[in-house]
Amino acid sequence: MINATKSLWHATSQLRHFPPLNHNLSVDVAIVGGGVSGLTAAVLLAGTGRRVAVIERDRIGSGETGYTTSHLTEAIDGRYQRIVKGFGEKTARLVAQSSRDAFDIIERLASELTIDCGFERMTGYLYTEREADLDRLAKELDAARLAGCDVQWIDTVPLPFPTRGAIAWPRQACMHPLAYLNGLAHAAVDRGALIYEGTRAVDVQEGVPCVVRTERHEVRATDIFVAANVPINNRVLLHTKIAAYRSYAIAAETDGVQLPGLFWDTDDPYHYTRTQESAGQTYLIVGGEDHRTGEETNTDERYRRLTDYVHQHFGKVSVRYRWSGQIIEPVDGLPYIGCNTASTHVYVATGYSGNGMTFGTLGGQMVTDLICDGESPYEHVYDATRVTPIVSAVDYVAENVSFPVNLMRDRLTKLNAGDRAPDELQPGEGGVFASDAGKIAVCRDQSGAFHTLSAICTHLACDVKWNNAEQTWDCPCHGSRFSALGKVINGPAVADLKPVPLYELQTTKR
Ligand SMILES: Cc1cc2nc3c(=O)[nH]c(=O)nc-3n(C[C@H](O)[C@H](O)[C@H](O)COP(=O)(O)OP(=O)(O)OC[C@H]3O[C@@H](n4cnc5c(N)ncnc54)[C@H](O)[C@@H]3O)c2cc1C
Ligand code: FES
Repeated sequence: MINATKSLWHATSQLRHFPPLNHNLSVDVAIVGGGVSGLTAAVLLAGTGRRVAVIERDRIGSGETGYTTSHLTEAIDGRYQRIVKGFGEKTARLVAQSSRDAFDIIERLASELTIDCGFERMTGYLYTEREADLDRLAKELDAARLAGCDVQWIDTVPLPFPTRGAIAWPRQACMHPLAYLNGLAHAAVDRGALIYEGTRAVDVQEGVPCVVRTERHEVRATDIFVAANVPINNRVLLHTKIAAYRSYAIAAETDGVQLPGLFWDTDDPYHYTRTQESAGQTYLIVGGEDHRTGEETNTDERYRRLTDYVHQHFGKVSVRYRWSGQIIEPVDGLPYIGCNTASTHVYVATGYSGNGMTFGTLGGQMVTDLICDGESPYEHVYDATRVTPIVSAVDYVAENVSFPVNLMRDRLTKLNAGDRAPDELQPGEGGVFASDAGKIAVCRDQSGAFHTLSAICTHLACDVKWNNAEQTWDCPCHGSRFSALGKVINGPAVADLKPVPLYELQTTKR
């Protein structure tokens, strides 16, 4: 079998199960996606008495919320220097205020709903190890103050290695993200919401009523919130405004020493560090080594670098878990949350950067406010007016076929002289090759069997690339990801990669 990575959160939580949708349904609000955005909205909307249904493709927490590192902070990745320059001081203040609102919402919900997720307030430090970065950091301090953040400069950072100084952000927070998500799911159901797992939305239509079409059934609703991390609607327009990056994280066992804060450095790619206690064990969690999705095939190397970084900075700790996930970067530094101008009842939320636990919470609150009150104090800041719902999806079921090596050699050829030949692929490796029927994505599983799929991404037809650490097919254009057998893992694609039985191809000329 092809190996997968596992997050600390999945390893240390038991998520409630929900059945698939097996009939047509009418509700007030349909929510696509059971991550922090979707389930926050489900709890809040169900709390107003609305009939809510959540449609989840896989399981709740199977998206990026299960792969986060869960720093809850107003020190946004988009950086206040850029926000002040691009949008002005007033907007920067609203961005900072809305981020603080988000972790206040999490703290309130965790308390009101008695969710045991270890929510804890602590100082966050944006620090540098390099003299050359001090000027940039000082400018960020000024911009953060303009944005109304209660920040201060400190020379001594509470880390066990030398640093040059930091901006300290008081009263930031962290928590166990899946313990929180599981609590939201329970509370949503207690408030009358319906949650369906194993149910993929393939189409979202604006109308009276709006309709979410799943593979077998329909959910009719007055309003729809597409909380799928990357919208499955608006396939062209919104996706020109966002880019998908992969970010990596490892959790190492420590001897009980807890770091007194959240830490983010100024490297490029940067590192983010904190500790988490779970079942009596303290873990050091370090993330980073981001790259554009699909632009790196040797993703194992990213884990190696992250591990080296941990050993150099924190000593010889033992790495227990490693995982990676998708970060959606907006072109202008701010997320897109809200209703489409061309549509009055379909809402989207995306482009959270590495702040999606807070922006996702904000997204859930904003969409609730927009549906219930017709307005949100932040609707102009995160305006998603460039969104147009366009959906056209054909779903394919992947098949798993294995072939002997000589068939690989006959039917497929290398695209570039320097590439490995198809029959030379080792277990766990993959590559894209030419055939008489176009480009074919081939990977070989641990048993030695080959799996062959169309290499054409089902979103907008870019070529997928093999990710050897995750054993997935990743698309560099808008970040769709597919399992080794072609199943959609991350949108915007909603259809699986098309299986291409090798025996149907003609022998290729050499
Ligand atoms: C390594 C890493 C570290 C991070 N660290 C932080 C951090 O420290 N702080 C922070 O604030 N953020 C962080 N983030 C970002 C944050 O985790 C995400 O932005 C956030 O979890 C997104 O939540 P979401 O609910 O929007 O999406 P998701 O959690 O991805 O949920 C979307 C759900 O929609 C479902 N779905 C998708 N398509 C369909 C469909 N067609 N039909 C039905 N369901 C569908 C998916 O299965 C998924 O469950 C990190 C992310 C990564 C990857
Ligand atoms: S994700 Fe858009 S073409 Fe692949």
